[in-house]
Amino acid sequence: MNILISGGSGFIGSNFIKYFFSKFNNFKIINIDKLSHSCEVDNLQEFKDNDQYEFIRGDFSNSELVENILNNHNPNYVINFAAESHVDKSILFPEEFIQTNILGTFKFLVSINNYFQNLKDSHKEEFKFVHISTDEVYGSLSSIADPFQEDDKYYPNSPYSASKASSDHLVRSFYKTYNLPTIVSNCSNNYGPYQSLEKFIPLIIFNALNKKNIPIYGNGKQIRDWLFVEDHCEAIIQILLKASPGEVFNIGGSNEFQNIDIAEMICNQLDSISPLVLDNNKTSYSSLITFTKDRPGHDKRYAVNSSKIKRMLGWEAKTKFEDGLRRTIDWYLNNKEWVNSMHGEKYIEWIKKQYQ
Ligand code: NAD
Ligand code: TYD
Repeated sequence: MNILISGGSGFIGSNFIKYFFSKFNNFKIINIDKLSHSCEVDNLQEFKDNDQYEFIRGDFSNSELVENILNNHNPNYVINFAAESHVDKSILFPEEFIQTNILGTFKFLVSINNYFQNLKDSHKEEFKFVHISTDEVYGSLSSIADPFQEDDKYYPNSPYSASKASSDHLVRSFYKTYNLPTIVSNCSNNYGPYQSLEKFIPLIIFNALNKKNIPIYGNGKQIRDWLFVEDHCEAIIQILLKASPGEVFNIGGSNEFQNIDIAEMICNQLDSISPLVLDNNKTSYSSLITFTKDRPGHDKRYAVNSSKIKRMLGWEAKTKFEDGLRRTIDWYLNNKEWVNSMHGEKYIEWIKKQYQ
């Protein structure tokens, strides 16, 4: 069995490939990734000489390249992780999000659909295209509203979420119009190893360890539902193996916290693992917390109801937030080479200036 993955070198994709190979040895994974995420270290170096893994550096919207890959590898499944994924970047450079998340996904869908339509019936029956999306497409929740369900309306508020919403609609249209067997998953905020430093949790860890200010947008009372990336990977496997075409699944971590509480929790854990000394005095990392100008259009709260995936596929998030956070912090502490290889520091500082 072969799986074509787009965007497999990024945060969730690389965690997925590692997790998948830890569970299965009868699949080959072909990963097409443009490597737009700014890291010099290959997250998947360990599979370099593995016959069951092939990396192709390229753009998932390059129809000729994708057609060649499809013809050479005849994948049974396709998982689409490729996207521009950072909300702050989408506010500053929205066009890149339209290009990749809308036009790129569209072109990828066309290539996959051309391939699918020419498959033998037996191969067609097992084929699935899984599209990884976000809970941000549903928009913002008030603090007392019920978590989003799969049939809630889309109200995206940032160029990022609007571009992901658009890609979800395109995927749905290919299912309805061409019978391409697609499944869409809308997950909440992931955290864990290999996440780029521009995202909230890695940024807090990185800045704290480098004695830099920890920027909290606005009043810090916005709420996100944090999903440990390995739990997400397990959910994707369940979807790939068990879900029916046309389905949509929300995937949440059931860990809703205000941003300020997340920052305090990380500071508390770091205080006991690697105490901070400033001017010869031991002090808490929380002294680095700094409130900055708010993100424009900042969504107040995201939360999803995951009862459908639990009921239909038997999946639920297993990792307690405290444990996932500890594993994440330990990973960043033990992988300084990876952290230092990120080209993003100047870019992050520049982005942060826009919010001061
Ligand atoms: P990421 O930015 O770490 O990874 C995205 C990957 O896609 C990168 O490796 C990048 O090089 C690749 N890519 C971008 N444009 C490409 C192109 N044109 N052709 C080929 N590859 C390309 O992001 P992530 O956090 O791993 O997110 C993966 C997916 O999950 C995205 O679709 C994102 O919208 C979705 N998602 C992420 C989160 C989260 O918390 N990280 C939450 C919900 C949904
Ligand atoms: P982020 O990791 O960018 O994910 P998303 O915007 O997709 O939810 O941000 C998570 C939350 O943290 C969000 O409410 C914005 C906030 N945030 C800060 O307060 N400071 C920061 O430096 C960053 C990057 C995010």
